[in-house]
Amino acid sequence: MKYNIAVVPGDGIGPEVVGEAIKVLNAIGQKYNHQFNYTTVLAGGAAIDEYGECLPEATVEACKNSDAVLLGAVGGPKWDHVPGPQRPERALLGLRKALGLYANLRPAMIFQELADASPLKPSILDGGLDILIVRELTGGIYFGEHVTESGEDGSVTAYDVEKYSDYEIQRIARTAFEMASKRNGRVTSVDKANVLDSSRLWRKIVSEMSSDYGDVELDNMYVDNAAMQLIRDPKHFDVIVTGNMFGDILSDEASQITGSIGMLPSASLADGNFGMYEPVHGSAPDIAGTDKANPIATILSAAMMLRYTFNLSEEADAVEGAVRRFLADGFRTADIAGTGDAISGTVETGD
Ligand code: NAI
Ligand code: MG
Repeated sequence: MKYNIAVVPGDGIGPEVVGEAIKVLNAIGQKYNHQFNYTTVLAGGAAIDEYGECLPEATVEACKNSDAVLLGAVGGPKWDHVPGPQRPERALLGLRKALGLYANLRPAMIFQELADASPLKPSILDGGLDILIVRELTGGIYFGEHVTESGEDGSVTAYDVEKYSDYEIQRIARTAFEMASKRNGRVTSVDKANVLDSSRLWRKIVSEMSSDYGDVELDNMYVDNAAMQLIRDPKHFDVIVTGNMFGDILSDEASQITGSIGMLPSASLADGNFGMYEPVHGSAPDIAGTDKANPIATILSAAMMLRYTFNLSEEADAVEGAVRRFLADGFRTADIAGTGDAISGTVETGD
């Protein structure tokens, strides 16, 4: 089979880690007889330098015409002076919107070999952790009205509107239930239904839908409790589904209990299996060009691409298995190394 991938290397360590992920995809292609075709396009700071805009139309078109997008990271101090609408980070919002990416998947995984890098006690982690956070990405308070008004008495008031419609909740809940039925069969839906109407609708719709998924167990949790349970008893969770803002906060919290940001992949999915795959971390300008970046987050993002867009689960398992063996054999990049460990560079890790 042939698969067309748009590649957006981005800035800083982006091109370095993306290069290693492509190396891994090519190894999979050889072993399993697939052809991966790459179209490399610019976004973020690299596009500002080349074209004077962070998200050229040609980049959007190339992404739309591909089966999936592999992205490094964008931004860096070099573009700090660039005005708001053209900032490198805007390229990400623009791409999400243009590509209709409404489901953000962020696994929070702890490989057993790295459990001592987590700030949580070994007794809580008991050998590892595997949570999948499914965050709604195109609705909620980030896309509601944002208003700042001045009163006649000179006071100033600002408000932002949290808004969700039944169809938006249905499609993200469907993603979560389907993921859970292929994993450990549990969905925790996170909301603030004791206070917010939008959350009461969220809870109602998700609960109604759960009857279509007899093999998946649903529990509903308030977001403040979920924030506590992630630290107290993270093993409670399999799939967490939540709105845009709660998902933003909880996924950052969950990333920290795993130890290193250099290990965490992500996917953003649209209808019809189309997806954009990228590491959770940024462009790490402090280590760019030094062969220190950990490419595993990007390599695991490529594994998610194989699994979720191309339906190649055996191939995805093979990539994840290779990462496990790399760790089990004692290889460590600098960000996950303990004192006295030999350090592997970006390129050696990809090899
Ligand atoms: P960052 O994630 O780039 O770096 C935070 C820290 O983690 C740094 O010390 C960095 O060296 C380290 N780090 C990150 N990835 C690593 C890896 N793969 N291996 C080893 N160490 C790694 O976040 P920061 O410094 O806040 O942002 C830098 C730039 O990246 C900014 O311009 C920011 O806007 C942008 N950014 C872009 C994102 C994206 O494109 N999705 C996401 C987050 C930040
Ligand atoms: Mg965030």
